[in-house]
Amino acid sequence: NAIIGGVRAVLGQVPASWLPGGTPDPLIDKRVALGGQQSRIDGPDKVRGAARFAAEVAMEDLLYAAFVHSTIARGRIADLDVSDAEAAPGVALVMTYRNAPRIGVPPPIGLTNLKAAGNHTLPILQDPEIHWNGQVVAVVLAETREQADHAASLVRVRYDAAPARTRFEEGKTSASMPESILVERNRLDKGNAGQKFAQAAVTIDGVYTTPWESHAPIEPHAATIAWRDGKLIVHDATQMIHATAGSFAKVFGLKAEDVHVSSPYVGGGFGAKALWDHQILGVAAAKLAGRPVRVALSRASMHRLIGGRTRTEQRVALAADADGKLTALLHHGYGVKPRHSVCDEGFSLTGRSLYACESFDIVQHNVELDLLANSFMRGPGETPGTFAIECAMDELAHALGMDPIELRRRNAATCDPVSGAPHSQSAMMEAYDLGAARIGWHRRAPRPCTRRDGEWWIGIGCATGTFPFTRMPGTSARITLDANGDAHVASAAQEMGMGTATVQRQHAADRLGLPLERVTVAIGDSRLPFASFAGGSSQTASLAAAISAASGKLAIQLMRLAGNDTPLAGLKPNEIEFAEGGLRSVEDPARHESFASILRRAGRGELSAIGESGAPLEVLKYSMHSTSAIFCELRVSEVTGEIRVDRLVGAFDCGRILNAKTAASQFKGGMIMGLGMALTEETLLDERTGRIMSTSLADYHVPVHLDVPDIDVLWTDIPDPRTPLGARGIGEIGTTGVAAAVANAVFNATGKRVRDLPLTLDKLF
Ligand code: MOS
Repeated sequence: NAIIGGVRAVLGQVPASWLPGGTPDPLIDKRVALGGQQSRIDGPDKVRGAARFAAEVAMEDLLYAAFVHSTIARGRIADLDVSDAEAAPGVALVMTYRNAPRIGVPPPIGLTNLKAAGNHTLPILQDPEIHWNGQVVAVVLAETREQADHAASLVRVRYDAAPARTRFEEGKTSASMPESILVERNRLDKGNAGQKFAQAAVTIDGVYTTPWESHAPIEPHAATIAWRDGKLIVHDATQMIHATAGSFAKVFGLKAEDVHVSSPYVGGGFGAKALWDHQILGVAAAKLAGRPVRVALSRASMHRLIGGRTRTEQRVALAADADGKLTALLHHGYGVKPRHSVCDEGFSLTGRSLYACESFDIVQHNVELDLLANSFMRGPGETPGTFAIECAMDELAHALGMDPIELRRRNAATCDPVSGAPHSQSAMMEAYDLGAARIGWHRRAPRPCTRRDGEWWIGIGCATGTFPFTRMPGTSARITLDANGDAHVASAAQEMGMGTATVQRQHAADRLGLPLERVTVAIGDSRLPFASFAGGSSQTASLAAAISAASGKLAIQLMRLAGNDTPLAGLKPNEIEFAEGGLRSVEDPARHESFASILRRAGRGELSAIGESGAPLEVLKYSMHSTSAIFCELRVSEVTGEIRVDRLVGAFDCGRILNAKTAASQFKGGMIMGLGMALTEETLLDERTGRIMSTSLADYHVPVHLDVPDIDVLWTDIPDPRTPLGARGIGEIGTTGVAAAVANAVFNATGKRVRDLPLTLDKLF
């Protein structure tokens, strides 16, 4: 729905050839560089320490920032004493609402304005009002980081506290239906689900809860900031370079060309590396101090300033006939979305696409609390959504006395269950077959509490993962051919470690008929052609579409330059193809001229073309979702209730896989996040004060190496004829379905159904 909303906003743009009725991308089954195992081209610099991250950019005369955070959730600052802080050693500036430059509010992130990145709609340090516990009330700049931290501890703030809403249960009474970019049409009521549920042969009905989760990338948020002659330079850690630059321009009243954002490397994004208060405050403070500023958030500041995934409470009720055919799917739930928050957690989207069902009753409510704004977190919506739906499917299989895979086979959707639109490509049950063979599903005992080894109960579980296909309009790429006929691709795309430049280099090489070593890819800088963002698992498809469009323009320009004195003379655009470092006739491969030769004859040192991704119109006509089958084998101690995950298997149906090595890393990384969600991750919020208490990696438990078992990933690798390169996104789906597979394995091992994440040992026995 979000995608379709975005598409409608840009319908003016003309589609490319793989759109409805068009022919598939000719590269969808070509294997030269694509489909290989290339290592990441950014890898060696990272291993050597030569890659320069945002907090490492050297700059003369630098000041270091530290933040003072509010200790109440709502109210106003009554008294502010910064005199001790200002007098502390090394302090250059203490900035509060009293002396901060007057600035605008960042434009909210969304699909219709790709130059906006704001995650909330509140003024930043412009008044004494407090909206969440942890909001910045003062910024200290000093000559060293340590001096800044010390001085920040000397700022004294007295508040007039106002009543704050910080309790989930109380907030539920005033919950609203969201109008949001994720849940466009919120209520789905189709086919009389209530009645079908009441009349069904077999039903289950449960409430599933998932906790607050906070972002925990290896690299905390950071920016190194300088003003030069009224122009702004920000070395940022961001997964949305142009949106960040556009937001700075808006907030500080600058022309777009006077803002330069550089972000060649990002140490983990997952949805968190967007625009938050720290960059705005750093830019404002640098302006006020007249010196460059480095902001490098502490883990604690990150937890207070960077939103996470909301807590959810989801009721899922399923009804089936005696053969296991679903007759009703009810999914009602609550998530938190503070009024000032832009992002929300569309968990109610999951059940709309996965299974054929006669009737649906789906609704999502937003609880408005006085808390830090949410952000997106890997697999937003589907990650908590699949926990509820896929545990419920396991409960239904148990109630029917049916194998859980067989239940899914009987209900696998052959088209979109709500709209009836055909799938662009879908092979969920092939993924189940692959995964079941790999984990050894036949070893699973149908009845819980059957297999044991000493004190350990052993179980196997499965669950479906899913994520929609997204491609962003407006992403552009420039291809420049140099005098040697080598190709240089440039786009302001972003690299968070997933292999953006690596995969697009493979793509451009195959697209242009060049060997890999004759192609370079430049990304990570706002001076390069516009790109949308690394998010929504959309970047590879968006950038691939742009490079493809640029290559088409390049071919036409080359033919024009080639003139009549060429073996290609007289051929029409549809009669030529890129091959062997030049253009050649499709019919007669002997008719060929190299790029270098065409440019030399024309007296040109180089030739370039810019292409744009275009509106993804195919999503209006096709149901486009990736799916996966996740399997978990684990043991549970009868003595302590401790869970040890022994194996995870993920079998993915995501269209064609472009690079086996980077894809495997994406899937495994996603599954490890899913494992954290299943077993350990939980943001501890003191509901009395609205204060987040787990503000370090010692308190917020992400999986460490010893928690992570052997992980196997495999894929169907069936090209999607409706996407560039035949590929759908793979960045987020790995996280989905994992927590349900673990919970279902726990049930198979112990007979204990835990519907509340994380699955800590106190909930087991
Ligand atoms: Mo993501 S949550 O689209 O980085």
